[in-house]
Amino acid sequence: MGEGLTNTPERGGHGKKEQFGHVPVLLKEAIDFLAVRRGGIYIDATVGLGGHSLEIAKRLGAPGRLIGFDKDPKALEIAEGIVGRSSSVVGQNKVQDWPTIEFRHGSFADLANDEGRTTYDGILADLGVSSLQFGDPARGFSFQAEGPLDMRMNPMSEPTAEQVVNQFDERELADLIYEFGEERRSRRIARAIVRSRPILTTAQLAAVISTAARPMNQAERRIHPATRTFQALRIFVNRELDDLRKLLEAAPQLLKPGGRLVIISFHSLEDRIVKDAMREGAKLGKYKLLTKKPVTPSDEEIASNPRARSAKLRAAERI
Ligand SMILES: C[S@@+](CC[C@H](N)C(=O)[O-])C[C@H]1O[C@@H](n2cnc3c(N)ncnc32)[C@H](O)[C@@H]1O
Repeated sequence: MGEGLTNTPERGGHGKKEQFGHVPVLLKEAIDFLAVRRGGIYIDATVGLGGHSLEIAKRLGAPGRLIGFDKDPKALEIAEGIVGRSSSVVGQNKVQDWPTIEFRHGSFADLANDEGRTTYDGILADLGVSSLQFGDPARGFSFQAEGPLDMRMNPMSEPTAEQVVNQFDERELADLIYEFGEERRSRRIARAIVRSRPILTTAQLAAVISTAARPMNQAERRIHPATRTFQALRIFVNRELDDLRKLLEAAPQLLKPGGRLVIISFHSLEDRIVKDAMREGAKLGKYKLLTKKPVTPSDEEIASNPRARSAKLRAAERI
């Protein structure tokens, strides 16, 4: 176990992160693969509530720099209170040895347009939504709580899920649900959505989908019928796969030789993109693969944090 992992607030249970019910996934593994170098420059592409950022910061020390991205300004505000120099977690004795931290509101895809010459010792991306977002019904990510159909990580972006659900034509909706949700019943679901418009809340949409796509067998009964459609809408609304591709494309130019790229994904569409990009990079002599197979959470981690269930970590080193 790496330095400080047992004493962090997310594990200790007394910190702000616990208050938001967010436990960083594959924390030790991610930090180990990142191999944070004191005095280095690192990117946390998905700051969230700062769980991974905090561990990176601890290892960087005063000469180091951490640049963090998040589309969600609320997440950055909370993370600032956890990782920022004035955070109580940092502690009196560490303040003197804390890195420069810069949080940027926006997509990690913006790194692709980085014209500057900075190169980095490591990039970490822990993809998807945080518990802060998922657990807040007002954000509209979950079909288990009634809320507006929003689903935006960045409240300044467009479209909202409501716009997609109510304005796209049936064919576009079906294609989107199939492509980003890998939902076989996409046509039936799209037809039911169009017939039930206007649909304004998560619960209303979940009910429409449940009626249109009743589970036909034991395997289908294991997940809620709305799971894949909600995933598809979220991915589309937040352009998740496009952003991931842009980051992966830019990463070899952003990393110093020996720099590490660590990505944690949560569903097969993301993992496939990460796997292909790293393998392609290895073929072109840009990367040494550090994970032949993805690293997955232990049974113990899954038991204590069900959100970790589908996590897959892949890592590569820039040659
Ligand atoms: C799973 S959470 C990260 C949790 C974080 N590692 C922690 O320990 O607290 C993912 C975060 O990434 C953000 N995010 C997702 N895609 C993004 C993107 N393309 N650019 C910037 N932030 C993104 C989400 O808003 C969310 O806050």
